[in-house]
Amino acid sequence: TTAAPLEVSGQTIQRDDWTNVTPHILAKVPRALHRTPHHPVALIAKLIEHYWQTRVSPDFKAINNLDPVVSTTENFDHLLFPKDHPGRSRHDSYYLNRDTLLRTHTSAHQTQLLANGSQNFLLSADCYRRDEIDASHYPVFHQMEGFRTFDAAALQALPDPPSPYKATEGNPQQGVHDPRLVGRVAHDLQSHLDSMVQFLFAQPGQEKLQVQWIDAYFPFTAPSWEMEVQYQGKWLELLGCGVVQQPIFQRALGESDGSADQCMGWAFGLGLERLAMVLFRIPDIRLFWSTDPRFLDQFAKVDPTDPTSVVHFTPFSHFPPCFKDVAFWLPEDAAVGDKFHDNSMFDLVRDVAHDLVENVALIDEFTNKKGRKSKCFRITYRSMDRNVTNEEINAIQAKVRQALAAELKVELR
Ligand code: PHE
Repeated sequence: TTAAPLEVSGQTIQRDDWTNVTPHILAKVPRALHRTPHHPVALIAKLIEHYWQTRVSPDFKAINNLDPVVSTTENFDHLLFPKDHPGRSRHDSYYLNRDTLLRTHTSAHQTQLLANGSQNFLLSADCYRRDEIDASHYPVFHQMEGFRTFDAAALQALPDPPSPYKATEGNPQQGVHDPRLVGRVAHDLQSHLDSMVQFLFAQPGQEKLQVQWIDAYFPFTAPSWEMEVQYQGKWLELLGCGVVQQPIFQRALGESDGSADQCMGWAFGLGLERLAMVLFRIPDIRLFWSTDPRFLDQFAKVDPTDPTSVVHFTPFSHFPPCFKDVAFWLPEDAAVGDKFHDNSMFDLVRDVAHDLVENVALIDEFTNKKGRKSKCFRITYRSMDRNVTNEEINAIQAKVRQALAAELKVELR
């Protein structure tokens, strides 16, 4: 029954009024794509580890086995998220109960790893966020967290950047930092990330990738940037990064002996599917979850120490889509109506249709004279590996409609 405690990665966790994780999501936890041999997500992680360990420093420790169940303290508080940060919302994250959730990013482990003595690490892991449904969004995805610590001696030994660092308005440095050292740490971060993508995209005939740095904001780094690469005529965001907030070192290393104040560090968080889709030309994010050997077998010969061995994915024949619209009035009861969130609809469709759903798009929305709101969504159903029948999809659509009425209390039109 729905009231039974949750069983996740060997733990039994009590539900409460905050629980919103769905069975469909929990079923993904054991898949561990980033540890599956020949899987493109695992291959990308290995290629990146190879770059840092052989071209930058053998000190980078590769980690890929941390439990996705974390506390709100680890995922948010230790990373200095304000209490009212939207990332904490139940609309955006999968909570097991008020205190525990499926990690929304690999940064959740920074404090714990530093406290256990890891100073330089590459952590790959499955992450979970409630999101829209299309070819590049999936509620489970994988990130790699890179983290580098410099002690006082290492900071002195770092070269200065070609042009001096200047803080920009809107992307300030931390007051406690010497701007000269911020410049060195930021240059170390950005120059190696730039070399890393050049290393990954070193296929025969491939031109040098264009890279740009965009000022960004993360509660746990300052200054912060996003790195974008030019791909097929568009700028594509690959990662977030920045200079680690000093309170993170202080909490993890203790404030007593002053060692936390002597060191500085950088961190980055990179979307592994994003990068894998580009590098292996994988057109739909659901393919990563396919158990069809026609998917995995294509990557069997890729050597995870050699980016020139990367192959482009050849789609199995393209199967036809099937479109179904559903329109409904939001609940009359204003309290319930206000609570309706598109992400609840997306999770409901995933729970019923699993990976047969390709896209859910809001195609119409209006409020009538009486103030009642109507929404219409177009659901695209398509399988990645076979033809679907109209009867099969009609049956799924009927279940979606039933669940919408029963669970989200909408009035179907
Ligand atoms: N954790 C951030 C995210 O998921 C990315 C990030 C990691 C940014 C490390 C800065 C430093 O969006």
